[in-house]
Amino acid sequence: MAIELKRVDEFALITLSRPDALNALSFELIRDLGRAFDAVAAGDARALLITGAGSKAFCAGADIKELTGRSLAAQKSGAELGQAVFAKLDRLPVPSVAVISGYAFGGGLELALACTFRLATRNAKMGLPEIKLGLIPGYGGTQRLPRLAGEARALELILTGRTVGAEEALRIGLVNRLLDGDALEQGVAFAREFSGYSLPVLALAREAVRRALDNPVHEGLKIEADLSTLAFQTRDAAEGMAAFIEKRKARFGDH
Ligand code: CAA
Repeated sequence: MAIELKRVDEFALITLSRPDALNALSFELIRDLGRAFDAVAAGDARALLITGAGSKAFCAGADIKELTGRSLAAQKSGAELGQAVFAKLDRLPVPSVAVISGYAFGGGLELALACTFRLATRNAKMGLPEIKLGLIPGYGGTQRLPRLAGEARALELILTGRTVGAEEALRIGLVNRLLDGDALEQGVAFAREFSGYSLPVLALAREAVRRALDNPVHEGLKIEADLSTLAFQTRDAAEGMAAFIEKRKARFGDH
């Protein structure tokens, strides 16, 4: 297996594990990721963290050695496979956090873009360098980057292929926070900032925000009214409001 899936306390942790190839995404690794996302979706982890083996790279992108000399049909089905697997990540029932140390290029950055959150060490370097290979991003980068960082920045990064350092990534909203010290420990601490809340209600919040980006605001507001009403009907909402009134800590049961 080119990845490792394990448990760290209440969280699932996936480590991309091809350090000799800077954790590049072979098709085998992408299939392993798909199976791991299914396992996380079926399990009881409260969030998923994804990281890369070693400190040099989170992931250097699609495995370029596998991409050469393929037929158009094979190329298209490869892009569709990567997109479908990353869509599973995007739609996981629990939030996900990419913990980026070192390089996150091409498909590696696209993997991180499909996570709910991205955290980066100060030595992190990110980019969509496909243009330098005569390619364009194929695992969601042209769609997720403009939604996250805006059209102009996405076009700049995709058309120049330039590398963005950690500070700039933070400034343009590509990452949520920079990490000092042990990256994984910090990732776990970040996940604990939300993982104690009701999982179904967290999922409703993610769904509402995701649909904000796909709909005009008047439609989005209707969606928000529906989803916030659904949240209101959970037992966790009753518990959360009762706990406030009774001046105690809420005990959410994920229902
Ligand atoms: N695919 C396959 N192998 C890769 C790889 C990749 N994306 N990136 C690095 N490697 C391999 C190298 O070939 C090398 O292996 P060998 O020693 O067997 O030659 C090993 O990993 C170490 O890499 P470098 O010697 O190049 O390490 P470096 O420190 O000098 O440079 C780097 C690091 C700047 C990240 C450089 O490796 C690099 O530019 N990699 C390619 C990045 C890239 O272009 N990614 C986009 C891929 S296309 C894509 O992702 C399409 C899509 O949208 C899905």
